[in-house]
Amino acid sequence: MKVNNQLMRSIWIENENFSEVMIIDQRALPHHLVIESISSPEQMVVAIRDMHVRGAPLIGVSAAWGVVLALQNLSPEVFSSDPNLGWSQIMDKTSELKETRPTAINLMWAVDRMLDWLRAHWAGNEFVRLVAGARELAKKIMDEDVEHCHRIGEHGLSLIKEIHRRKKGVVNILTHCNAGWLACVDYGTATSPMCLAHDSGIPIHVWVDETRPRGQGAKLTAWELGQHGIPHTLIADNTGGHLMQHELVDLVITGADRVTRCGDVANKIGTYLKALAAKDNGIPFFVAIPSSTIDWNLSDGVKEIPIESRNQDEVRYMDGLVLGSDSDRVESVLICPRNTQAVNYGFDVTPSRLISGFITEKGVCPASEEGLCSLFLEEGLR
Ligand code: MRU
Repeated sequence: MKVNNQLMRSIWIENENFSEVMIIDQRALPHHLVIESISSPEQMVVAIRDMHVRGAPLIGVSAAWGVVLALQNLSPEVFSSDPNLGWSQIMDKTSELKETRPTAINLMWAVDRMLDWLRAHWAGNEFVRLVAGARELAKKIMDEDVEHCHRIGEHGLSLIKEIHRRKKGVVNILTHCNAGWLACVDYGTATSPMCLAHDSGIPIHVWVDETRPRGQGAKLTAWELGQHGIPHTLIADNTGGHLMQHELVDLVITGADRVTRCGDVANKIGTYLKALAAKDNGIPFFVAIPSSTIDWNLSDGVKEIPIESRNQDEVRYMDGLVLGSDSDRVESVLICPRNTQAVNYGFDVTPSRLISGFITEKGVCPASEEGLCSLFLEEGLR
């Protein structure tokens, strides 16, 4: 997507020897565009854990590159003299990567995909070939994400077109958190249909949930939509229900961090409440996902999906530019009494019964096991 009219992705490789993975440090947005270079698996662990990169698909792609960095940082001598020692060093690094964020299944999916390939090629291979193959696979995972997000956009576009055909006016779409290109590699999941609709001349307007505590909607989605010229309005997290009661929302589209085989969805905390309000008001609630977000091993999302708990200070403090100041220095402020304790669950689960359907790279389907299997039968049967 474009940033200041320049094409940009959320993660890329700049030099031919793959020694550095370039990312946008998303903690600095929207006030500063900071590019960071990652050259070790340890740095990638920090970047994922401390949310320099975030969003389920991007976490997965970053972790895939983290595995490449772990391999590149392995000594070729260790690899050839003691392959078992080399393998256990890789396993240590990949475990650290997997432990960074527990809810987004794309992380485990991408690391396991890299490990499956490495395991199959570890014995009897030259180190340089192994490294070249791992780089190729990480690049494939990255490029596939771009392609899948673009297809999600095309499939979601038909939903928006249909609403516009019936309504004959501006289509109002509500979204939660950031499921845009910053959360993926390019295009985004939830925002991909919005961008295509806007580009094809369908008038849309997006209600952007601020998404406390970290403010991914206010900081990232509003920035992305603004860069793309899409009309949007920022709303406090509690506003969606009121807008729905007054027929100001035609469609809700969110992303997801993990979807069970039965169609339950873990997404940023607060998604469930939007789905309840949408159901009560008869408003279609769609979840846009690449297939890498489906966890075929789980069925009951509320009981089985691990929910990340984060530092309470993300709730107790807010940051931004100081009112009335010309400085572009970001300041943090305490918003509660000094001794107030907080809890900070990162995600909640929306049961499939509240979801109108999934928008995937293979098409739109009902939020159910049958629906998902109708598109991804092979994966579902595994
Ligand atoms: O905690 P985050 O910012 O990583 O959470 C991101 C979300 O919840 C997104 O909605 C989800 O990952 C879908 S991204 C396409």
